[in-house]
Amino acid sequence: MNAEHLKQQAAEAALDYVKDGMKLGLGTGSTAVYFIKGLGEMVANGLNVICVPTSIASHELAKSLNIPLTTLDETPKLDLVVDGADELDAELNLIKGGGAALLREKIVAAASAKMVVIADDSKLVAPLGAYPLPVEVIPFGAAATVELMHKAIKDAGSTGAVTLRNNADGTPLITDGGHYIYDCALGSIANPKQLALNLNVIPGVVEHGLFIGLAQVAILATKTGIQKIEI
Ligand code: A5P
Repeated sequence: MNAEHLKQQAAEAALDYVKDGMKLGLGTGSTAVYFIKGLGEMVANGLNVICVPTSIASHELAKSLNIPLTTLDETPKLDLVVDGADELDAELNLIKGGGAALLREKIVAAASAKMVVIADDSKLVAPLGAYPLPVEVIPFGAAATVELMHKAIKDAGSTGAVTLRNNADGTPLITDGGHYIYDCALGSIANPKQLALNLNVIPGVVEHGLFIGLAQVAILATKTGIQKIEI
């Protein structure tokens, strides 16, 4: 069974959490795509839901499948968000933002009564941090913000290179919100909670990819079936 098949299995298992009448958040990334496609089929078969996408890409996909869409301004409280992750630990702390959508993903997760994470089991790690932590930064004064990020990382007991994420043509990647992404190659994150707090107080940091205490369920597809973590 290849990685794509595993992602699809995790996404399809998450469709069980969707009930008629729900207000849903739609995640971003290659695993979330399978969820949105499955949801599209359920909508075509009569399911009544209304959804807030976490990125322009997910918005476009959902629209193409005739999934009814809304915004957090119209619908500020959601029942459920289903989203992928770049890494997760057994306590369901996550690293997200590999697809540069972490800001909207976190806003939508915080507005949702429940967050279900979908992934193949290779994403389950201990500790977090082999995957570089994405941090979304305001372009104004970015070099000064990076200096403060290094201090925040050190004060949380970690260390590593902080690199501006570029597009294939070498220009800086700009997020849906108009910001830069810096990837922090930390290797392992000794204290995710402390690092999250330290990054949160830097003025030029819009958000970071550590999702602490936001997810309640992880659906992990393994070669031998679905593994669920619930907290
Ligand atoms: C998008 O910014 C990310 O947070 C994604 O949810 C995450 O990168 C998982 O993506 P895949 O499902 O493509 O691995």
